[in-house]
This record gives sequence, C-alpha cells and structure tokens, in this order.
Amino acid sequence: MFKKEVYTERRNKLKKEVKSGLVLILGNAEASFNYPANTYHFRQDSNFLYFFGLDHPDLAGVLDIDKNKDYIFGNDVDMDDIIWMGPQPLVKDRAAKAGVENTAPFSRLGEFLNEAIKSGRKIHFLPPYRGEHLILLNQLLGLSTDKVKDYISEELIKAIVKLRSVKDKYEIAEIEKAVDIAYEMHTTAMKMAMPGVVEREIAGTIEGISLAKGGPVSFPIILSINGQTLHNHYHGNTLVKGRMMITDAGAETTMHYASDITRTVPVGGKFNQRQKEIYEIVLAANMKAIKAIKPGIPYKEIHLLACKTITSGLKELGLMKGDINEAVKQGAHALFMPHGLGHMMGMDVHDMEGLGENYVGYNKSTKRSDQFGTAFLRLGKKLQPGFVLTVEPGIYFIPELFAQWKAEEKFTEFINYGKVETYLDFGGIRIEDDILVTETGHRVLGKPIPKTIAEVEEIMGG
Ligand code: GLY
Ligand code: MN
Ligand code: MN
Repeated sequence: MFKKEVYTERRNKLKKEVKSGLVLILGNAEASFNYPANTYHFRQDSNFLYFFGLDHPDLAGVLDIDKNKDYIFGNDVDMDDIIWMGPQPLVKDRAAKAGVENTAPFSRLGEFLNEAIKSGRKIHFLPPYRGEHLILLNQLLGLSTDKVKDYISEELIKAIVKLRSVKDKYEIAEIEKAVDIAYEMHTTAMKMAMPGVVEREIAGTIEGISLAKGGPVSFPIILSINGQTLHNHYHGNTLVKGRMMITDAGAETTMHYASDITRTVPVGGKFNQRQKEIYEIVLAANMKAIKAIKPGIPYKEIHLLACKTITSGLKELGLMKGDINEAVKQGAHALFMPHGLGHMMGMDVHDMEGLGENYVGYNKSTKRSDQFGTAFLRLGKKLQPGFVLTVEPGIYFIPELFAQWKAEEKFTEFINYGKVETYLDFGGIRIEDDILVTETGHRVLGKPIPKTIAEVEEIMGG
C-alpha cells in the first residue's frame, strides 16, 4: 500500500468533485471457477484499490460527502477462517492503514444506505462488471437488476476518470516496474522463438516471469505465429521458420499497476526481406506516433498520423495506392490496421474501461468516430501531463477480411488487391510501448525493449 495520506487525499478530492450525497465503492469478492471453494486468483477492484488500497475480498467503502465521513464495511474473521487462512488483521486495523476511522460489519451496509435513501440523499455508485455486484446492488439499493444501470452515477464516473487519468510519481514508478518485468518477459520470449518450439512453452515461461517478479500477467497473454488474429490466446502452434511470432504481454506489480508491451519477431531470429519491409513500416508508425506525443494534442490525431504512416509505407510496397490522406480519411487503411492506436493504462491494462470507454477516451471536444477501424480507438481526446497510454500500431493480413472487402470491391482506388493476395500467408505485426505524457512531451516508460531489426536480431542471436 501507499501511505495512508495518499488514500485520504484521493478520497477528499473525490468528495470535492462529486459534491453531495454518498459514494459507494464495492470491493471484489472471491470468484469460483469449477466448484465453490476453487477460486480464481483474487483481483481487487481497481477503484476500490485507488481510494482505499485494501487488497482483500468482501469489503465495501462508503464516503458520506455531506458529513465528510469515510467508512469501510467488512466482517472480522472467525476461528474457522483463521484455521484455513491464518491470523487476519481486524477490519478496523486494515481500515486505519487507508486512513479510514469508521468501520462496520458488512451486514450493516444495506441499512446504512437505506437510511440515506429515505432522507432523500443520492447514492453514487459505479457500473457493475461482475454478476455478484449486480445482485448485491439489487439487494442493497432495492433496485431490480435490470434497473441498476439507470441509476449509475455519471458524476462519480466523471470524477474518478478525472482523478485516475493523471498518474502521480508513485504510480509512474509502479508502472515502470511493470514495464521492467515486461522487459524480462519479452527478451525471454525472443530468445525462445526458435523453430520447433510450441507457443505454450514460451507463453508459460513468460507468465512465470511475471508471477515471479510481481503479480500475475496484466491480461491473458497473446502469443502466436498467427498474429493476424488480434487477440490470439491459442498457444498450441509449433513455431516454423518463415512466420513471425507476436507476443503481446504485460505484468502487474504487487501494487496492481500494469504494463502492456507487444513485440513481433521472426521465428529463428533472422528477418527475411518481406518481413523486414512490413516491420519497418510498423516501426516507423510506432516511432513517429511516440515522437508526436505531447500535452494538448488529441490522441485521435496521433492515431491518424500512424494510419498515414502505414498507408504511405504500404503504398511504397505497392499494396496500397492513390492519395494517402484520402485513403485514411475514407478508412481504407483499416484493411491492414483495423484497431485503434492505443489506450490509457494504469491499474487496469485498459485503464478504467469498466467505467465506460467514452468517458475515459472522449469528451465534448473529441467525439468517437463511427468509421470501421478508427471507431475502435479507445483514446481520442487531448492529452494531459500525467496520462499513461499505449502506442500500438500494427499491420495484419486477415484472409477473411480481405476476402470480404475484395468481394465487395471496397476501396479499389486505394487497395491493390492482386498484390495483397500474395501476402495472405504473412500473419501480422504489432509493436507496442507504454508512454507517459510529460509537461513538455513524453517519456517511453521502462527499460528499452529491443525494437529495431538490428536489436531484435542481436538478442535472438541471429
Ligand atoms: N493487450 C491488449 C491491448 O494491447 O490492448
Ligand atoms: Mn497489448
Ligand atoms: Mn494495449
């Protein structure tokens, strides 16, 4: 945990932003996978961690803004629990570590909230992303489960997004630790990417590095020689020469801050000519986009800059044609890069996504595009110092998307279908880094992970 003053200050800022009523932040409970007592790894809710720091199941936090009192609701353990789990601090001692003086058993929470509701006070709560929380909100607030969404507090969402978007130096230090673990994961994956190795041998090894050096991975590892499938979690292929292996993986620190890094390497350690040509385009898009990052620039502009870099590179190779700006304006590049350039990152790898992507990535001055490709950009708004985000351009040859667009004769003025057809066995390339927006520009976080062709070939011993 950070010092208790950190949490007190965050809660005070939140109360100031939300102005009146009560704020309810539910901590997570254990979740079962194949029978009740066999539970998934426990992951505390990130908002609860941000405001209370307590990494234990079955707690709820309440801020009474009008009375300026903070509460933790939770139960002390009994002897049966101690036999199985060992001695546990009292809820009041845990709460004191977060600077919270008021505690009560969990069973009192409903009554406490109902008293407030009866006196006409508003309960601010967040969108639930677990079924158990939906049921709990139904029980606590007397709202039917299909009505819960109608009472979610937009004021609370906006206030939390405002606070959590700007990372302080302690949070940035944590994120850098997570990137440094990712350095170990990715350089290990690179060295292992030899013909005959099965993907899961590498995925399992690097997941172990994350566990050994911090916490679990920050999201299920994407590792495949079929990188044209953007989120490929199948790890059963045997690596063969001529394919490239995408590894999109990050770690979570013990304080639950994430990294999210992608590298793509040639199986065997030596790029062939065709791989080199596509790789250099993605690398240029990654580096140009990073270079353009500074406060005040809308991230959507940087996304479009990356798309133009990709279009221009593909035009040079004869895969695209026509006017580059017009091709990107119309969305023709999305055949090759059908996703956004990046997203916010913090305690959640897609930071705060549970609060609603549009609250996190967009606002009145930057609206989300509805065009295929750019519509999937999670962060579009103007950047501010303290934002941490990813830059992750890619080029993919997706045979199914190609077949559909070709049949529809889509963008024939920009896409050279005959030439693209010869690349359908290529796979995909993505290169992703984690970036801090500073007062004057940006900083790439963590120890630099091999990225140029020369650096990748060197570490792979090619
Ligand atoms: N790790 C998924 C992503 O890059 O967004
Ligand atoms: Mn990623
Ligand atoms: Mn990412």
